[in-house]
Amino acid sequence: MKILVTGGLGFIGSHTVVALQKKGYEVVIVDNLSNSSLKVLDGITLITSKTPHFEKLDLRDKLEVNSFFKKHNDINGVIHFAASKAVGESVENPLLYYENNLASLAYLLQNLVQLKEQNIIFSSSCTVYGEADELPISEEAPVKKAMSPYGNTKQIGEEIIIDSCAAHQHLKAISLRYFNPIGAHPTAHIGELPLGTPQNLVPFITQTAIGKRKELSVFGDDYPTEDGTCIRDYIHVMDLAEAHVVALERIMHSKDNASFEVFNVGTGIGSSVLEVIQAFENASHEKLNYKIVDRRAGDVIAAFADTQKANEVLGWKAQRSLEQALKDAWEWEKTQVNT
Ligand code: UD1
Repeated sequence: MKILVTGGLGFIGSHTVVALQKKGYEVVIVDNLSNSSLKVLDGITLITSKTPHFEKLDLRDKLEVNSFFKKHNDINGVIHFAASKAVGESVENPLLYYENNLASLAYLLQNLVQLKEQNIIFSSSCTVYGEADELPISEEAPVKKAMSPYGNTKQIGEEIIIDSCAAHQHLKAISLRYFNPIGAHPTAHIGELPLGTPQNLVPFITQTAIGKRKELSVFGDDYPTEDGTCIRDYIHVMDLAEAHVVALERIMHSKDNASFEVFNVGTGIGSSVLEVIQAFENASHEKLNYKIVDRRAGDVIAAFADTQKANEVLGWKAQRSLEQALKDAWEWEKTQVNT
């Protein structure tokens, strides 16, 4: 079975390639290296003893995408990660985001619907729910108006796939709505490689603890939560990676399911920012330098997943704890000292 992983050198993509290769799949990675490094291939090889096939490809280049698929017309499934993901940057440059995240999706699907096997897993986000009315958040929760062009590309991306499934009888898709992926592979051979100053909490924590940043700013402690800081559902990236493999197997092997399905991928456990800091200190035995500052614009108060559908329908459940994820993130950060 040959699986195409777009953005396969990125954070979630690379861990998913590991999970696929561990299960015996043949993987083809395409990546434009805009937010990733070729060194990730070495990490994947060290972990799995197998180097995936890699082609540098920019999915915005329609002609290149077409010729890629002419060469690889025997692909059995696609896991599509390649996309830009910085919320602030998307507000400053929305057209870049619509091109990167949506034009590329259209070109990919145009080629996919020509193949014999038409299976795709789409990287979506819990950001589509905005500030949800009920917690935990189930797949039935309404999709709210996106708070950023980035969030909008996830919503529109799902709609593009829904319309395509309706028009193309053999196309099957699952959209995975991720909560907050963190951590690294436990071998510390691959992990997150943030470009510039990290915007996300956990890479900022590990970079502060290692001394690359002076202190962590905690964005607000006056939210209506137990300790006043925001609550999120932090999921180990290897748990998330395994969810992709299970989702892909569902669409490749079962004939009777709806052509488009959505699953939330989280642990079901909400943790506050202060709880994450405490868990990091426990896992790393490091003291973290932090201060409370004003709220960050656009943050929702609390988001954590109702995991029942993923548990029952996909037969998947997150296995790893928050402390394990933070320990793995810390071990990875320590390998990055001279980078
Ligand atoms: C963010 C994006 C979301 C995107 C996701 C992808 C925003 C507003 N949201 O989600 O659209 O899908 O990343 O990974 O950017 N925090 C601090 N200090 C920091 C960094 C974060 O206190 O330096 C807090 C935040 O206020 C939040 C929590 O940590 O409460 C998690 O933040 P983050 O890792 O950026 O994830 P999200 O905001 O959930």
